[in-house]
Amino acid sequence: MAYTVLVTGGCGFIGANFVRFLLTERPNWRVVNIDKLTYAGNQANLADMADNPAYTFVHGDICDQNLINELFDRHKVQAVVHFAAESHVDRSITGPDAFIHTNINGTFVLLEAARAHWPAKDQAAVCRFLHVSTDEVYGSLGPTGYFTEETPYDPRSPYSASKASSDHLVRAYFHTYGLPVLLTNCSNNYGPYQFPEKLIPLVLNNAQHGKPLPIYGDGQNVRDWLYVVDHCEAITKVLESGQVGESYNIGGHNEKKNLEIVELLCDLLDKKIAPLPSGAARRSLITFVRDRAGHDRRYAIDAGKIERELGWRPRFTFEQGMEQTVEWYLANRDWMDGVLDGSYQSYYESMYGSRGAVQADKE
Ligand code: NAD
Ligand code: TYD
Repeated sequence: MAYTVLVTGGCGFIGANFVRFLLTERPNWRVVNIDKLTYAGNQANLADMADNPAYTFVHGDICDQNLINELFDRHKVQAVVHFAAESHVDRSITGPDAFIHTNINGTFVLLEAARAHWPAKDQAAVCRFLHVSTDEVYGSLGPTGYFTEETPYDPRSPYSASKASSDHLVRAYFHTYGLPVLLTNCSNNYGPYQFPEKLIPLVLNNAQHGKPLPIYGDGQNVRDWLYVVDHCEAITKVLESGQVGESYNIGGHNEKKNLEIVELLCDLLDKKIAPLPSGAARRSLITFVRDRAGHDRRYAIDAGKIERELGWRPRFTFEQGMEQTVEWYLANRDWMDGVLDGSYQSYYESMYGSRGAVQADKE
């Protein structure tokens, strides 16, 4: 019997890359993707998978306990890979409510469904609840040191606090109920299909069109950058071989200052596309703006545990990942235009009409 994985948030950036990865690399598995299609969810991200018989899309909310229970019953879900979340720090500063609702309550709903549907001890050999989280739960580092799986939690934005909260719930379900959970805490992802509110796609889009490139504060904040394809491989590794109850940090071994990233993107575009009408280098578009409230200074991941215990390390160098990413955005300007003019939000209706959540399910 095919292994059935419920992916939440599969129309978002990492989720869509992961669904495509599983359907390609694990052709005998079945993937059920539940996504609410918030502003960050884009059905076009998986347009090429829509007719794959191993793929089912469900338009719905992870906070809807009845719907989630029904999906577990109907599809005999054996694994959950939980991406669905509000994911942007800036939005969590201006409107934290949705973060608390989806990231905490939504995770709780999924845990309850798994607990109700995976009761028998022998299921633990097969069933897995993999919660995808962030390194931001560990707080902010000074100039040295790394986050390990033992670093105490110290979240500092409403986003990271909501993710930390959901991590604690997931661990509590392991300790209290024996639910077979796994946690991953990864660094900043980059790659195809990322919503252009995040640094890299935002800069790529603005720089192409000669618009200002906003850098918060002094641009010296450091992030560790992980190519999304490497991340998908790491998640699959943890799902298949991780030890239940454990957390795994996933990082790209690529610490960069924000300003370095933006300068690199400017230089790559100057080489690849027509110059700005003014003839100026794209670095001239860099504009220092007011800093983000509570802006964490540095994140850096020690990804030694997943390498030692599961044999995973990133396959792509930063240069390779960035090259492929820039090429993808240049080759997919229609995707970006659809996101920017809002037409991506009518994609669902054009595919499925105005039917409700469960009717959109193919089965
Ligand atoms: P994203 O914002 O691109 O996508 C989130 C997806 O979740 C969207 O498709 C959205 O429609 C869906 N969603 C939101 N609320 C929902 C709800 N209530 N019910 C069902 N679906 C809902 O996010 P992403 O960047 O792909 O991140 C995925 C996960 O990875 C998140 O849990 C995030 O915290 C985590 N993460 C992301 C990064 C990163 O660099 N992007 C880094 C570390 C961890
Ligand atoms: P972001 O992509 O929002 O990810 P996160 O906040 O989860 O790390 O931002 C990455 C870094 O880039 C972060 O330090 C904030 C900074 N940043 C800018 O300087 N300008 C921008 O326009 C954005 C979106 C981010």
